[in-house]
Amino acid sequence: MKTYGLIGYPLDHSFSGKYFGEKFEKENIQNCEYRLFPLENIQGFVNLEKQKIAGLNVTIPYKEQIIPYLDELDSHAKAIGAVNVIQFINGKTKGYNSDYYGFKDSLSHFLPKDFKSKALILGTGGASKAIKQVLTDLSIPFKIVSRKVAFDFTYEELNAKPEIIQDFQLIINTTPLGTYPKVEEKPDLPYEALTENHYFYDLVYNPSETAFMKAGATNGAKTINGLEMLVGQAEKSWEIWNKN
Ligand SMILES: NC(=O)c1ccc[n+]([C@@H]2O[C@H](COP(=O)([O-])OP(=O)(O)OC[C@H]3O[C@@H](n4cnc5c(N)ncnc54)[C@H](OP(=O)(O)O)[C@@H]3O)[C@@H](O)[C@H]2O)c1
Repeated sequence: MKTYGLIGYPLDHSFSGKYFGEKFEKENIQNCEYRLFPLENIQGFVNLEKQKIAGLNVTIPYKEQIIPYLDELDSHAKAIGAVNVIQFINGKTKGYNSDYYGFKDSLSHFLPKDFKSKALILGTGGASKAIKQVLTDLSIPFKIVSRKVAFDFTYEELNAKPEIIQDFQLIINTTPLGTYPKVEEKPDLPYEALTENHYFYDLVYNPSETAFMKAGATNGAKTINGLEMLVGQAEKSWEIWNKN
């Protein structure tokens, strides 16, 4: 039996547990299980019986804390400073960031090939760092929007000068605003200044059409939620665990 799994805390609503359980069944993948390892602190990782584990996902709150415990880091995970996949090879551990790959693939399906504008990234948490790295690697210039003044724009600044968003035709929500059950919440943007040339990418996937996406679509923007990214990062995890 090959054991894969997820570390994090708490793990009450795990997408990965359900996803891999269904994948093993649907694709008739034999002798594999996906287990949840809720760890109250990161020390619990040291105590896991690693010789019995074929691969792990890492979720909140350990995506950054796990790094000192790993033998090696993939170059993207290193640049981002966060790990959500651990590969076990010959007793050694290597950390990867599959959010990077999930977002990059999904964005390439969503944006037109000749997209030439700039991007706004809303939020400055862990997911925002992976998105920044993708945009850097795709040579899409970007600015960061935060509630804190230490970044490029605050929401107040954008609302005071709505014309700013004409120059940023890709807007990516990496805040949790709008996630079920607080489905009416959305980032505080001057939505009326949007055009049909705008692309709205929401990392939130529950509900499938968020208030951010609705407000974008109402004002002509094209929209996508975070489900394709989520599935993409899970499939990338599987690929990482099963490559030699
Ligand atoms: N689809 C996927 O595959 C995928 C993958 C990863 C994450 N996600 C989703 O992406 C979201 C962010 O994840 P994360 O790990 O980066 O979370 P996080 O570390 O909690 O950070 C989110 C950022 O959002 C901003 N924010 C938080 N509350 C806010 C509020 N009330 N109003 C305005 N801004 C607020 C904050 O930035 P400032 O303090 O700078 O404003 C914060 O740093 C979550 O909903 C997560 O489920 C989806």
